[in-house]
Amino acid sequence: MSKQLTLGFFGFGVVGQGLYDIIKTKHLNLTVKRFVIKHPDKKRTLPAELFTTDPDAVLQDPEINTVVELIDDADAAFDIVSRALRSGKNAVSANKKMIATHLTELIAIQQQYGTSLLYEGAVCGSIPIIRNLEEYYDNELLHSVSGIFNGSSNYILSKIFNEDLEYGTALKQAQDLGFAETDPTLDVGGFDPKFKLAIIASHAYGLYLDPDTILNIGIDKLAPSDIRFAREKNFKIKLIPTAREIDDRAVILYVLPKLVTPANILYNVENEYNGVLVKAAFADEQFFYGKGAGGHPTGSAVMSDITALRYDYKYEYKKHLGAGSLRYSTDWEIQVYLRYEDDELINKLEFSSITERYYAQDFKYIIGRVNLGNILKNKESINSNGVFIAEIA
Ligand code: HSE
Repeated sequence: MSKQLTLGFFGFGVVGQGLYDIIKTKHLNLTVKRFVIKHPDKKRTLPAELFTTDPDAVLQDPEINTVVELIDDADAAFDIVSRALRSGKNAVSANKKMIATHLTELIAIQQQYGTSLLYEGAVCGSIPIIRNLEEYYDNELLHSVSGIFNGSSNYILSKIFNEDLEYGTALKQAQDLGFAETDPTLDVGGFDPKFKLAIIASHAYGLYLDPDTILNIGIDKLAPSDIRFAREKNFKIKLIPTAREIDDRAVILYVLPKLVTPANILYNVENEYNGVLVKAAFADEQFFYGKGAGGHPTGSAVMSDITALRYDYKYEYKKHLGAGSLRYSTDWEIQVYLRYEDDELINKLEFSSITERYYAQDFKYIIGRVNLGNILKNKESINSNGVFIAEIA
């Protein structure tokens, strides 16, 4: 028998509205009772009496048994979700930063209070990757999980490569379409896909990592010379988070732009679409493709979590119990393309081998192998004007 759910929402932005549109089309055992919002003067599509600015109107309402948290302030979201879980309510969240940053505490709270927090909508929008990692790949040995996890960056890159749009124009479009975060640096700087990668690592490998320890470099320093270079060699540039087992004891995790050839399945993932590529010991390669941002696609994942709560579904974090000796490592070499200005950066990165080097007055690049740990150590110098780094196979 499914449980009757009475929902209290926090936030009514792009995803909140998208989710509400979906709920209206269903005849489920669900009631939406209250929306807590920050800006009471904003024009809303629903009757004013449904809205309040008082969090306690939801958190202290004994009739509301399920909290749907869809705000973008990660600290406030953690406060809301942890209070909800502690007061015996189940919760659904789409806040990747909040979940990635507080995962250990959130798991402990769920265990202590016997409540459930689901967050499929936080990772790759409509793609059901978390539940698949939890349930379907429960006993699979996962060699790697990688892909395109950020709709906004992918939208921008697609518009640049396919339509010759300027970076700033494409970013503005991604914002206008409701794909980008309120602070778009989170998208284009590779932070948002890093939070998603950290969440994936917990369900794929049982590793709970502080996102600050994971390398993320985004697409915000991309210049016309990099685009020209990529085009001449028949590459596209994609922003790719990677989690990969390098042996049976260590996993590497990083987010970097990558020069991909048409043979790469991610080459044709365009606009706000995401793709998750799973490489497993027995199932071999599998690919999940779907919209990674937007109200309805993300709302559909949140909806699926809500309906799972009608049956008291909980993540069991099974991989963590078996993770045992698996640890996070940054000691691994990758091949990169690096556009730079100051030769000192080349020394600092300590390339172990160099396959190509090009100097011109206004464009210098090097292709070679570097240790991930060295990239992480020099992240600030790499993340500065005049420098762009991308993995190259
Ligand atoms: N800003 C995010 C993106 C929204 O562009 O992918 C979905 O998480």
